[in-house]
Amino acid sequence: MKLVNSGKARAHTNIALIKYWGKADETYIIPMNNSLSVTLERFYTETKVTFDPEYTEDVLVLNGETIEGKESVKISRYMDIVRAQADTTMYARIESENYVPTAAGLASSASAYAALAAACDKALNLGLSGKALSRLARRGSGSASRSIYGGFVEWEKGHDDVSSYSFPIEADRWEDDLAMIFVVINNKSKKVSSRAGMSLTRDTSRFYKYWLDHVDEDITAVKHAIKQKDFKQMGEVIEANGLRMHATNLGAQPPFTYMVDDSYLAMNVVHQCREAGYPCYFTMDAGPNVKILVEKKNQQAVLDALHQSFSEDQIIASDITRTGVEIIE
Ligand code: DP6
Repeated sequence: MKLVNSGKARAHTNIALIKYWGKADETYIIPMNNSLSVTLERFYTETKVTFDPEYTEDVLVLNGETIEGKESVKISRYMDIVRAQADTTMYARIESENYVPTAAGLASSASAYAALAAACDKALNLGLSGKALSRLARRGSGSASRSIYGGFVEWEKGHDDVSSYSFPIEADRWEDDLAMIFVVINNKSKKVSSRAGMSLTRDTSRFYKYWLDHVDEDITAVKHAIKQKDFKQMGEVIEANGLRMHATNLGAQPPFTYMVDDSYLAMNVVHQCREAGYPCYFTMDAGPNVKILVEKKNQQAVLDALHQSFSEDQIIASDITRTGVEIIE
């Protein structure tokens, strides 16, 4: 009888409240700074991986479609890292489904590599700890190291492969009171990937040192706010942190920005909600979408305000999940 070397895992995506922006080491994906995220209930990836000594190459099937070219080469390189760690030469078939509302442009390498790392761990019987899984996911995409855990998660930058990993932050279930609203914004301009954007900024931005010098105090302030369940304090810090990250891009050579007119429109709605007595705070990543952190009790008011400026299909709300990566098969 042939041994079944397969495993299937589910991982949720995460959004950074304190951003990871820039690598100290590109090969091992060691970041320049610590970051801190929340894990989202609504968006996740399920990945099944099957290793077989008879396979002659890695095959990637994404949402039922076999993927070739750049993306499959990237996955194959990642599988080489897994094979080296597991001391095997077997190729794999990787079948992955992204549970992200269609056309939202929210597909995330974070949930993808977290699910893949956990599926490989199961398939090859590696018995990795959470810390080791986080390190393995990190090799595929930095933010994936945080998707191993639910709730609030901090990625400790460390200084090498062993010391750079994420861990959960105890929040006494405060997550259950919070939600994140996504405002999906169409972008017609050429996309600058997070990988390219952070690399250019680290290398050339006049504002990058200022960014780095202030990240640690933001992390400390957010952790303090989590302890106190102080939403206002947390919101003010995370909104400023996100804007400061985006400011580094304006100082890059050449300068660039991810913000478009509708991003500013969404930010203005957030300001108006605050003025109307509904505290909420925005953050943005390597694209024009705006993500709004809100207490669930005020979620409907913020949704109503957004609906005045954006269409139904541009607005998606998600709970924060306390569930980390799970083996499902
Ligand atoms: C702006 O994790 O996608 O979303 O490590 O190169 O794969 P790589 O980058 P990635 O970068 C995420 C950047 C960000 C901020 C964050 O998630 O912390």
